[in-house]
Amino acid sequence: MSETFISLHDICRNFQVGDETVHALDHVTLDIHAGDYISVMGPSGSGKSTLLNMLGLLDQTDAGSYRFEGRELATLPEEARAQVRRKKIGFIFQSFHLIPRLSAAENVELPLMLTGMPSSERAPKVQAALQSLGLSDRADHRPAQLSGGQQQRVAIARATILQAPLLLADEPTGNLDSHSSAEVIRILEDLNARGITLVVVTHDTEIGKRARRRIRMVDGKVAGES
Ligand SMILES: Nc1ncnc2c1ncn2[C@@H]1O[C@H](COP(=O)(O)OP(=O)(O)OP(=O)(O)O)[C@@H](O)[C@H]1O
Ligand SMILES: [Mg+2]
Repeated sequence: MSETFISLHDICRNFQVGDETVHALDHVTLDIHAGDYISVMGPSGSGKSTLLNMLGLLDQTDAGSYRFEGRELATLPEEARAQVRRKKIGFIFQSFHLIPRLSAAENVELPLMLTGMPSSERAPKVQAALQSLGLSDRADHRPAQLSGGQQQRVAIARATILQAPLLLADEPTGNLDSHSSAEVIRILEDLNARGITLVVVTHDTEIGKRARRRIRMVDGKVAGES
């Protein structure tokens, strides 16, 4: 099956602030193929996060078509969108977004719990995920007791534990030192090498250059690809 994985056509997202309309996404058209490794760069305010949030079904669109594995999502009711989001999409944020009162293991376990999987099945999966990210000895630590790099690795484990085919990362290294940054990028690229479609928003040109497809956003538009 060679169907396009994701197809965006003429996507618009406007924000009304007082009298002013911000065209955060201005007729964005883009195809993403299964297994792609895409970086999204561009000035602050150019719509990178809006694009990622839209792809991750964290935000609505005002116009246009968003087809995912051949299915139109733009007009889907919220309950069905939530289902696609849970099964198909992992999201990583600059500030990790872990749940502070849960341990590393419990944060990673959360998506499995939401599927109703019994505890006996969850435990080995969580253990394996933590181990593969070098976090076995931090399983019981809460986020505040972890370094930034460790927190981001927990977030990656949580985003990938359900084996979603699409992984979206908004400035995943924005709060990390260069060593942790390199480690997180290596992990994301490893996941991509194993078949996950990866879209990374970054301000870091060195990181942006590593992607196979490099998209540049300007004023809510895709201004180019290299
Ligand atoms: N919820 C909102 N309400 C109003 N305006 C918004 C909202 N979210 C984003 N915007 C506006 O939409 C535009 C695009 O914002 P977006 O966050 O996508 O930019 P960005 O490219 O991710 O910038 P940065 O590099 O600073 O993270 C900006 O002008 C922003 O002010
Ligand atoms: Mg942003």
